[in-house]
Amino acid sequence: MDVFCLSLGKAQAIGAFFLVSLNLASLLFAQEVHSSPTAMPARRSYHNEEELLARMTLEEKVGQLVQVSGVPENVELGETVPLKEEYKPLIRAGRIGSILNLTGAENTNAIQRIAVEESRLGIPILFGLDVIHGYRTIFPIPLALAASWDPGLVEQVAAFSAEEARAHGIRWTFAPMVDVTHDPRWGRIAEGPGEDPFLASAMARAWVRGFQGESFRSPGRLAACPKHFVAYGAVEGGRDYNTVSVSLPALWELYLPPFEEAIAAGAPSVMAAFVSVNGRPMASNSWLLRHVLRQELGFRGVVLSDWKAVGELITHGIASNSRDAARQALLAGVDVDMESGVYAANLAELVREGVVSEGLLDEAVRRVLRLKFEVGLFDNPYTIVPRSNGEGEHSNALPREGRELARLAAQRSVVLLKNDNNLLPLSKDLHSVAVIGPLAADQENLLGPWHACGHPSDVVTVLEGIRAKLSSKTKLLYAKGCDINGESTSGFAEALRAAKEAEVAIVVVGEASWMSGEAGSRASLGLPGKQEELVRLLYEAGCRLVVIVLSGRPLAIPWIADHVPALFQAWFPGIEGGNAIADLLFGDAIPSGKLPVTVPRSTGQIPIYYNHENTGRPPGSGPFSSVYIDIPTTPLFPFGYGLSYTRFVYRDLQVERSSIPVGGTVRLSAWVQNVGQRTGEEVVQLYLRDMVSSLTRPVRELKGFRRVRLAPGQSARVEFTLGPKELGFHLEDGRFVVEPGKYQVWIGGSSEGGASGFFEVSAS
Ligand code: BGC
Repeated sequence: MDVFCLSLGKAQAIGAFFLVSLNLASLLFAQEVHSSPTAMPARRSYHNEEELLARMTLEEKVGQLVQVSGVPENVELGETVPLKEEYKPLIRAGRIGSILNLTGAENTNAIQRIAVEESRLGIPILFGLDVIHGYRTIFPIPLALAASWDPGLVEQVAAFSAEEARAHGIRWTFAPMVDVTHDPRWGRIAEGPGEDPFLASAMARAWVRGFQGESFRSPGRLAACPKHFVAYGAVEGGRDYNTVSVSLPALWELYLPPFEEAIAAGAPSVMAAFVSVNGRPMASNSWLLRHVLRQELGFRGVVLSDWKAVGELITHGIASNSRDAARQALLAGVDVDMESGVYAANLAELVREGVVSEGLLDEAVRRVLRLKFEVGLFDNPYTIVPRSNGEGEHSNALPREGRELARLAAQRSVVLLKNDNNLLPLSKDLHSVAVIGPLAADQENLLGPWHACGHPSDVVTVLEGIRAKLSSKTKLLYAKGCDINGESTSGFAEALRAAKEAEVAIVVVGEASWMSGEAGSRASLGLPGKQEELVRLLYEAGCRLVVIVLSGRPLAIPWIADHVPALFQAWFPGIEGGNAIADLLFGDAIPSGKLPVTVPRSTGQIPIYYNHENTGRPPGSGPFSSVYIDIPTTPLFPFGYGLSYTRFVYRDLQVERSSIPVGGTVRLSAWVQNVGQRTGEEVVQLYLRDMVSSLTRPVRELKGFRRVRLAPGQSARVEFTLGPKELGFHLEDGRFVVEPGKYQVWIGGSSEGGASGFFEVSAS
């Protein structure tokens, strides 16, 4: 059965809208398709890429650099569609090297058979997919997983997802998305690790290790493709695909580190971003792709363009036509052209005419072939079809281990922002509970904006999760109240009645999943529609409220944060979101998530982030200081913040040595104590400030974190080591330096406060 599942109709529709080239298949057909000169036996074996390269025609070489989407655009989630028929002869002719978005063991095998058994050289196809936070078992969105501050957990999530995807024919994932951003207006913040390069690097490493294991060749593993290289998170105004202007220090210190980590962890491919960075679109940015990525970061793998980005060089106004776009992209170091058809249409001719050297083409082809060897495609191009694999069905029979992991991941990634007078956890013996809000009984949105083959029917809603916690003695009332984004208040009266009748009202509000993710930028970050009005109505009627926000980004909701007694940021929590939220509400799990982003009070504060520079006139330094005259400068909630049902205090920061030489290391530690009544987990965070340096440095930078579990009254001394990697920074030219001088450190539970101390780095 030909099965395809994909959640990204939206992005591809956008790609189609901006499409510069023609329909790819017809464009490829317009070329002369060379059939095999001599019949060859099926399944040839090759030793390495050089042996193959020596036998390939120019067209076959170009074919390896061509990636197409195997299915029509705008396919809805879970639709069953046949492979685009027109691609089959092209595969047979060796004109397509990789395919994205085609899934299913039988489906991919059928296509593979054409490549391996019917094409002249039998080079297998590499099948790729955006396995962003799960394949079928959908976990919390990556931003939420970053809020777990738990790389081990992320590694397990990635490993589980890899196994599921691999069983369905996928060998390559276009993930992890490691774009740091300071702008929550940008919808793709949902797909990434948040605002901090240190946390993002830890997440990048975990995702790559999880996807790839010891070797991405092994069964159940995927080759990773960190994206989008680089500084995509800096799009102006937070508007997707917009221009990026980035300073060199920010490039080195903020945007490049997670890529460096992902590469060091063994990622064999990198996706270039859509955007123009400092005037050069990434698909033509040879300084970033060849110099920085390959020479400075030592990357040896495949560079893949983003969707139609090679063709979009024309729209950027950088290439005069598709020929020019192909030339520029190959020269800049883009090996694979995803879906624009520009390489397919032009590269062979450009080489024949001597505009592009065959040596340059060979370099790119060699890298793609090497990846295919490394992935093991030449030894084992097919996927074993399980006897009953449920492909195309949307049963709830997902593996139990996956559901358990998804539940744990959601528990750990929910952040408790407020809990006045210990309203939470709730008792399971309440007489009545009202569950209210447009997301309370919602399945689809909990999956998040990019959920591969996930299906809404797999999702446990918040209402169901709560219902499962309560005995029949508790009266459970439900009212939707309003839509996520509508203007109608016709459901308010029913919601008010339910909330008034209940001892506590749990209000589940937030964004629809399409409001974040690709092309999901928003200009104002309040609750959409009438939702805040609904919360105000219930609050003003005197109801005891617990508000749960589901969203792909932090929302600017100062009124809610100031008024309601209990507030959870639960992101888009995946298929087990409802159970995990109920676990937290009723104390079967203790909140331990911490914000991976600063929560703004107002959209006007953006960009607001904790690791900012001090300026010459920091807030509070006098009447002419760097503040707003109409709102506070401080965030609604700071980076790293998150409450528990117990409380942790920090004291006695010890610095092992008051002075270390340049290149030396220093050990630091502090006591953290659980002074509350319950066992809980705390993410202990280490921050650093370089007090005097040759470039202005952040007021604080995260340099370490650790999860500790403490029983009531229990203390632990948590230790960190700082070395050159943590103490140094990059100068504008990319040189990495550790400068002598004074450093301040903090160990605490967020980017504010904590136990503090100092040490020196001395020149001698
Ligand atoms: C996105 C990429 C994604 C690609 C393939 C693009 O629109 O920017 O992140 O990997 O589509 O689905």
